[in-house]
Amino acid sequence: MARLLIIDDDPDITEILDLYGDFLGYEADRAAGWQEAEKKLAGKHPYSAVFCDLTLQGTSGLQIFERINELDSGLAGRFVLLTGAFVDEGVERVIKARKIRLVKKPFNFEDIKAVLQSMDGRAEGTRNLILQSAKLPAVPLVATRILDLISRENTAIEELQEAIMADSSLTTRMLQMANSAFFRARQSVDTISEAVSVLGFNTIRSITLAVSTRDIYKPFGFLEEKLWEHNLGVSLAAAAIASEIRSGREEAAIAGLLHDTGKLVMNCNQPERYLFLAQSVQEEKVPFHTIETEVFGFGHAEVGSLLGEKWGFSDLLCGAIMHHHGWKNFDKGAGDDVRELSLIVALSDALCTRLGIGYKSPMPELDLGEKELQRLLGIEDGRYGEIVSRFKETFLHEKMHFM
Ligand SMILES: [Fe+2]
Ligand SMILES: [Fe+2]
Repeated sequence: MARLLIIDDDPDITEILDLYGDFLGYEADRAAGWQEAEKKLAGKHPYSAVFCDLTLQGTSGLQIFERINELDSGLAGRFVLLTGAFVDEGVERVIKARKIRLVKKPFNFEDIKAVLQSMDGRAEGTRNLILQSAKLPAVPLVATRILDLISRENTAIEELQEAIMADSSLTTRMLQMANSAFFRARQSVDTISEAVSVLGFNTIRSITLAVSTRDIYKPFGFLEEKLWEHNLGVSLAAAAIASEIRSGREEAAIAGLLHDTGKLVMNCNQPERYLFLAQSVQEEKVPFHTIETEVFGFGHAEVGSLLGEKWGFSDLLCGAIMHHHGWKNFDKGAGDDVRELSLIVALSDALCTRLGIGYKSPMPELDLGEKELQRLLGIEDGRYGEIVSRFKETFLHEKMHFM
């Protein structure tokens, strides 16, 4: 269960915060001052947020903020300062400069709920909302077995081959992918054992994940086909862009394939609402994540990264899925590799959207920041033009191959 740390020497305040947290699905740890808080922070539980009073005996909430920032800068980004109605100018300046969230006393339930939801998409408020309203599918059984074998140190190729071949559709799709432009094996791959030795365990792991998420697309209708087409396009574009800037090509391909998996989960959970939502995207030229947040209170990027966590995707992959629409506001905790991969996926997504890949028609009006992303990744116009025209050719070819 998600946890809060409450630092306050006023038992009435800790009591009420604990109660509100409970309603919102959080368990709370209480500390009367820094000494107790420090012990709690050293424990195993990662905290979703810290609530801390401004005036404590012998110390201040701002000093505690600085100490937490030294220990864990990500957590400092989820620090909430509780103050009285009046805050003096000096303190207010520090709060602004350090971008600390503030809740003034007396607060109510809505204040606490709002501040928890204002934290990034990974914040527990959103997480709980998703978990309450969307069923996240489990990893299919065959995939679980394959992933498990790959994670062990002494797995023999034969063992892995046997596990893959236990499922004929997985076998077919895996060979299809191994021979596609994503993985660019040097020779054509005709058997699973060849695939395993040519591509390596890591690639097989990625292919297994990609193939398994495709099973979420059932029942396969027009919308699902379009979503798959979009993921395919973004994947190929991401691989091309990653090659251009010498970033990991295979990781980019996989991130592209999986970036919008959250849409599939949302669509499977509420097909009628999601179909309606997809129609509004097409007609009103507003991005999916904007309408999703209006309708559901969260977007597909959050759902996708949560599914990724559940399925054991790497942190890099989960991070890129999480940030592919939120690249303008990276949280302090995200590393450079996550940032770069998110930008690659975001640019590929913007390109495919403009070209109408995964949509009924081209969507030039729906600008997802293509120019800005191209600039951030340092790709000049001439090179970008070449990448785009090569991508269009590869996409047509791969689309025939896969669909
Ligand atoms: Fe997306
Ligand atoms: Fe997308």
